[in-house]
Amino acid sequence: MRILVTGGAGFMGSNFIRHMLARHADLQLVNFDKLTYAGNLENLRDVEDDSRYVFVRGDLADEAAVEALFGAHAFDAVVNYAAETHVDRSILDPKAFLFTDVIGTYHLLEAVKKHGVGRMVQVSTDEVFGSVEDGTFNEMSPFEPNSPYSASKAGGDHLCRAYAHTYGTPVIVTHSCNFYGPYQYPEKVIPLFITNLLEGKNVPVYGDGQQVREWIFTEDHCRAIEAVLEKGIPGEVYNIGTEERRPNLELTRLLLGLCGRDASFIEHVKDRPGHDRRYAVDASKIRRELGWAPEVSLEDGLAKTVEWYKTHEAWWKPLKSGAYLEYYKKQYVMR
Ligand code: TYD
Repeated sequence: MRILVTGGAGFMGSNFIRHMLARHADLQLVNFDKLTYAGNLENLRDVEDDSRYVFVRGDLADEAAVEALFGAHAFDAVVNYAAETHVDRSILDPKAFLFTDVIGTYHLLEAVKKHGVGRMVQVSTDEVFGSVEDGTFNEMSPFEPNSPYSASKAGGDHLCRAYAHTYGTPVIVTHSCNFYGPYQYPEKVIPLFITNLLEGKNVPVYGDGQQVREWIFTEDHCRAIEAVLEKGIPGEVYNIGTEERRPNLELTRLLLGLCGRDASFIEHVKDRPGHDRRYAVDASKIRRELGWAPEVSLEDGLAKTVEWYKTHEAWWKPLKSGAYLEYYKKQYVMR
């Protein structure tokens, strides 16, 4: 099996590459990544010398680069992890999201179609469905994206649907709940809060902190994408969820406990503009049809994650300086 993983130097992509190399001996894997702020080859130090693995630097929004990639390698499958993903960044500056999440997906679909690639998995988010007060999103729920990030992901996902419908392109879309785990860039709430607490800093809880998110540990998500890659039906959509739903304040309390800090470290700050109140995923289809189920509880996954950040300061400390601080200051001004 020859697989292209786009965005493989990011948090989710790098975990997936490590997962696949560990589980499949007969794999050839190309990682195509632009190396933006969130792409970091440090995430893959332990596999970079593996003869089954090749890194190619490039931008999905660059049509010629994508064409050259597909010209140089014959792929059996493509997994598209490449995306701008952070809501707060999309509020500050939406443009990069359109280039990677919409145009990039378009270039990939064109290449998959032209080169007759056997299948493509589009890794997407539950945020395309918008916010739900009660109940859950299923695969038939309408797209109601509320941030420039989720609107861009929805645009890419709509193109996948259209390519499957119009050209028979063998693309499968997944909508997952929020991920967490080792190697996540410390701008997302869990690694931001853990690293702040380890540094003895406060954690900024947006608004009343009663927004609900559903959480999946990265290893469970890797297994879900692997199941979709192996057994998913082209043209289908699969939601990925765990039912591990918590209001942000409850999540924060768990992190305070694991980091040995008390509630005085909570700082209530102004709310995110257009902040989605609640995400909740109905993942019964992937459980039923592909036999996948999550294995890691939120409590266990958070404990593993805190332990990883405790023992990998050298990985995250540099990320919380320089460009990150510039972005962070801008974000505070906005709020
Ligand atoms: P985030 O990790 O940005 O993921 P998403 O917005 O894609 O769900 O945020 C998760 C939740 O945590 C969301 O409700 C916003 C909230 N949050 C804070 O309260 N403070 C923060 O500093 C951040 C980054 C997020």
